[in-house]
Amino acid sequence: MIDYAASDFSENWHYYIAALSILGILFSLWVLRSQTTAKLAQGEKAEVLHYAWDGDLQELNNPLPRWWMYLFYGLTFFGIVYLVLYPGLGKFAGVLNWSSAGEWQAEKNAVDAEFNKVFAPFKGKDLATLAADPTATGMGKNLYMTYCIQCHGSDATGAAGKFPNLTDAHWLFGGSADEIKASIADGRMGEMPGGLAGDEQGAKEVAHYVLSLGGKPHDAAMAAVGKDKYAACAGCHGDDGKGMPAASFPNIVDDAWLYGSSVAAITETIVKGRIGGMPAQMANLGEDKVTLLTAYIMSLSKK
Ligand code: HEC
Ligand code: HEC
Repeated sequence: MIDYAASDFSENWHYYIAALSILGILFSLWVLRSQTTAKLAQGEKAEVLHYAWDGDLQELNNPLPRWWMYLFYGLTFFGIVYLVLYPGLGKFAGVLNWSSAGEWQAEKNAVDAEFNKVFAPFKGKDLATLAADPTATGMGKNLYMTYCIQCHGSDATGAAGKFPNLTDAHWLFGGSADEIKASIADGRMGEMPGGLAGDEQGAKEVAHYVLSLGGKPHDAAMAAVGKDKYAACAGCHGDDGKGMPAASFPNIVDDAWLYGSSVAAITETIVKGRIGGMPAQMANLGEDKVTLLTAYIMSLSKK
């Protein structure tokens, strides 16, 4: 949030701005007053002013209608009261000390207090217990419907190549309670750089080597060539390809694939690189909501 009160500009200028506002109000009062007193004397006729527009459009110097004057006085009075009560005069906060940020904070505090009441019975329980408790997973589901469906879908099955399926038995970053919670709390924004294995052919060879590491069908001759180039990958995915889920480097020798496990898909991953897109939730939602979401995801997944 920008602290306007602390910025140089407001520090030096808010007196001028406040003075201008006050002078503006005094000026309109003065103008109003000059018009109030300019009444026609008894029997006096309004003069026709000596200029005319559009050939024959004339103006008389009649005083302003009273109702209009009083309306204006009323509005000016309203403005003054408003500036006393609410912020508006330079950086004077107003005697009510109201601010939109304060109003938002008060509403948020009320909602948080309400949530804390509902969450109280679950406090301190471990994730496995919560995952088996339909009330907790029901609350987790509501949170999921608000914060997660736009990517993982309402049934949490995701979209191949984009958003992982959260209901199957395969996990990119580990399926233990703590690992799932870490995925949600801290996000998974890991970046896999492209082009590390040279051209398309080089990438294809490494792809076969990756498949060989996972004990999957592969071309042994290609894999043998790809082995050396895999050195560029081992720093993140490990010599054995098991990765480091805690550091968001996925296991590439299991059955959990986001971008696909065909030679073509792995080659594409290696050539182009990939960037994870799971945003961290902790700062926004807080510990309790992340806990409920984890419990819900655990309850969905097929062990
Ligand atoms: C902006 C889209 C987006 C939103 C919103 C989002 N996710 Fe994700 N999520 C992803 C992507 C993309 C990945 C895969 C990241 C990767 O491969 O690096 C992911 C990965 C995950 C994983 C790890 C899956 C695995 O196989 O290890 C979990 C768990 C998860 N998300 C849960 C959630 C929950 C719960 C929410 C709601 C609070 C949520 N996500 C909101 C895009 C999103
Ligand atoms: C700097 C660390 C780093 C290096 C080096 C690296 N990767 Fe990755 N790799 C990642 C990360 C992080 C992801 C997850 C990206 C995502 O989920 O969007 C990933 C994803 C992958 C995937 C996709 C897995 C899936 O679920 O579809 C494959 C395959 C892969 N890497 C293979 C390799 C190969 C082969 C190399 C060497 C040529 C390599 N990586 C080098 C960090 C790295």
